[in-house]
Amino acid sequence: MRLCVLGLGYIGLPTALLLSQKHQVVGVDINQKIVNTLNSGKLPFNEPGLDELLTRAHGNFSAAQKVVEADVFIIAVPTPLEGSMKIADLKYVRSAAEMISLHLKDDNLVILESTVPPGTSERLVIPILRRSGLKTFYFSHCPERAIPGNTIFEIVNNDRIIGGIDKTSNERTKAIYASFVKGNIYLTDAKTAEFVKLMENTFRDVNIALANEFAQIAEESNVDVWAAIELANKHPRVKILKPGPGVGGHCIAIDPWFLTENSTKFKIIPIARQINDSMPNNVLLLVRKLLKELKEPTIAVLGVAYKGDIGDARETPAMKFIKLAENEGFVVKVHDPYVKEFDYKILGAEDAVKDSDCIILITDHNVFKEIDPVKMAKLVRKKNLVDTRNILDHEKWRKAGFTVEVLGKISH
Ligand SMILES: NC(=O)c1ccc[n+]([C@@H]2O[C@H](COP(=O)([O-])OP(=O)(O)OC[C@H]3O[C@@H](n4cnc5c(N)ncnc54)[C@H](O)[C@@H]3O)[C@@H](O)[C@H]2O)c1
Repeated sequence: MRLCVLGLGYIGLPTALLLSQKHQVVGVDINQKIVNTLNSGKLPFNEPGLDELLTRAHGNFSAAQKVVEADVFIIAVPTPLEGSMKIADLKYVRSAAEMISLHLKDDNLVILESTVPPGTSERLVIPILRRSGLKTFYFSHCPERAIPGNTIFEIVNNDRIIGGIDKTSNERTKAIYASFVKGNIYLTDAKTAEFVKLMENTFRDVNIALANEFAQIAEESNVDVWAAIELANKHPRVKILKPGPGVGGHCIAIDPWFLTENSTKFKIIPIARQINDSMPNNVLLLVRKLLKELKEPTIAVLGVAYKGDIGDARETPAMKFIKLAENEGFVVKVHDPYVKEFDYKILGAEDAVKDSDCIILITDHNVFKEIDPVKMAKLVRKKNLVDTRNILDHEKWRKAGFTVEVLGKISH
């Protein structure tokens, strides 16, 4: 079987390489740099296991900038948010469907993996594909659930939802995914599959917002929210998530808005978004508390990735925190061991911390637990620490002379 995968990013590339272990795959990306990198045998980004898949793909995988004829087309292009309007920007999905429609042949199957608002397959994608003039093509929405840092394992092992426009679409799509998915595959219709994906990420966003609200109430009530959550989670039916400096990434901070954009019946979802989006402001309050006497302080931000142990900084709450801090007149220095591309210069840990008045841990990278506070105490100008993830050994930092503030915890 010959497949053409459009979009060679965090989701499309692992999927294309997994498929190329058994099929002929042409990966298509409009970004020439990505295409050239792959065709020279290199990867455009790191993800555990991806290099091995590329090596094993041998002659089965090639990259191109233009769509080629195929039996199956998979769309894995970005679906960002139209900033202030809080609606999906579907221009990449639209252009991918247009590119495919020029090459569509009878009995071809088109699979949309990109996350989209409910009804997008029916209202937007299928009508574009129909422009090809073909009567018999097949279509499914097959949303992705993988997490950066563990993408390949999760693509292979997670259960999968397939929403076809008819029985044959479902069966054919299932046959393709069954060639590398070890999890269960559940069949439904396209709109339900779109809805399911959005509910999953909204569920996480709302529950993180609840944890963040608990953290703020706990701060007011002089309660340690981390200890309280641990105890509450001893209840057999309670699983409170962790609070933090906000929510980022390509999915959780964005997808809830896709669910609300065509609805008038929502209440909780925008409030949860607002709570999570306001967490960087809360972190700033903790920093201000420590720096109130200082004029033009310099702060060191540890971690700008949106979550721990990965190099993905898309939609990271660190960005809002940095901008708020700059508006406050702070000089901001940034360190992240994994993030390669960021709007601010990424410094080494010691350079970032040197002569700073406050260290703020934003991302829960495990390596940060190894930082020696005694060494840091010698580098900084003022010994202040804000831990927004509660991952550091605060006693050790206090012993090294630091004043420590922890999000969701009373200060000592
Ligand atoms: N990254 C994740 O962890 C994740 C998880 C679940 C779902 N998703 C969803 O999967 C989709 C893809 O996300 P991603 O993280 O892989 O995006 P990405 O930005 O990493 O990669 C997308 C790629 O598509 C390319 N592209 C854009 N328009 C194109 C076109 N018309 N033809 C060919 N290539 C085109 C871009 O150049 C880019 O390289 C999104 O809808 C996202 O919401 C992502």
